[in-house]
Amino acid sequence: MPVKISTRNIVKNYGAVEALRGVSVDVHEGEIHAICGDNGAGKSTFIKILAGVEQPDQGEITINGEARRFDSPQASLQAGIATIHQDLAVAADMSIYQNIFMGAELTRRVLGLPLLDKARMRKDALGYMGQLNPSITDMNAKVTDLSGGQRQAVAICRALRWNADIVILDEPTAALGVRETEQVLGLVRSLKAAGKTVILISHAMQDVAAVADRISILRTGENQIDLEGGELTADNLSHYILSGEVNRIH
Ligand SMILES: Nc1ncnc2c1ncn2[C@@H]1O[C@H](COP(=O)(O)OP(=O)(O)OP(=O)(O)O)[C@@H](O)[C@H]1O
Ligand SMILES: [Mg+2]
Repeated sequence: MPVKISTRNIVKNYGAVEALRGVSVDVHEGEIHAICGDNGAGKSTFIKILAGVEQPDQGEITINGEARRFDSPQASLQAGIATIHQDLAVAADMSIYQNIFMGAELTRRVLGLPLLDKARMRKDALGYMGQLNPSITDMNAKVTDLSGGQRQAVAICRALRWNADIVILDEPTAALGVRETEQVLGLVRSLKAAGKTVILISHAMQDVAAVADRISILRTGENQIDLEGGELTADNLSHYILSGEVNRIH
């Protein structure tokens, strides 16, 4: 598959802290690409740069071979990247469909006045949810009544609603139980099945090994190793992350 999103030598300093010291990653179209590494390795910083939340001090980002710069989260979204941050940013007191359409509500005109088109939002929300988790059918349900895995599904539906072709998930299974983790890994596979390119940040080696097509391990802000195919085992991942051994480097 062609390279969908590529970074070269991304550098980011926070004062004296060198969070990223030259990160280069090639994410192939339609694949699930995991970013792993120990605490403080720079994973979230890297994702924030792709999401337009932070700007790099140096380095390049290309999408479909075209150089891009994201000065804001909106710019990243417009380039087709939807990022689901670890805190999800769902509004617990609001319904599923309201969350999916938050900030992008559909309206209809009645006597020349714009009114919320709740019926269409509910119907479209059901369509998005049907692609991910058909067992969730009540779009009026409040997010506060959903499980962690179901909330993740709502956040992912919002990404689908933006029509992004690259979806970034930061630690989607953190704090979830075994069954819910399975559900969320199913959601990640559904995104791939829908043709999306997925970037998955995770600490959970078993999860990563179960879904990823390719993995980049970061260490103190630099690439440590890329793994793919038969190399993608939880044992292999733990080995590299714990040992610090460096193998193939860009
Ligand atoms: N806003 C900030 N200001 C100062 N230092 C920061 C900031 N954000 C991150 N850092 C530092 O940059 C380095 C990389 O942090 P980052 O959050 O990207 O790591 P991470 O791999 O996501 O870690 P974790 O697994 O703990 O989430 C760390 O040393 C961190 O303390
Ligand atoms: Mg992090």
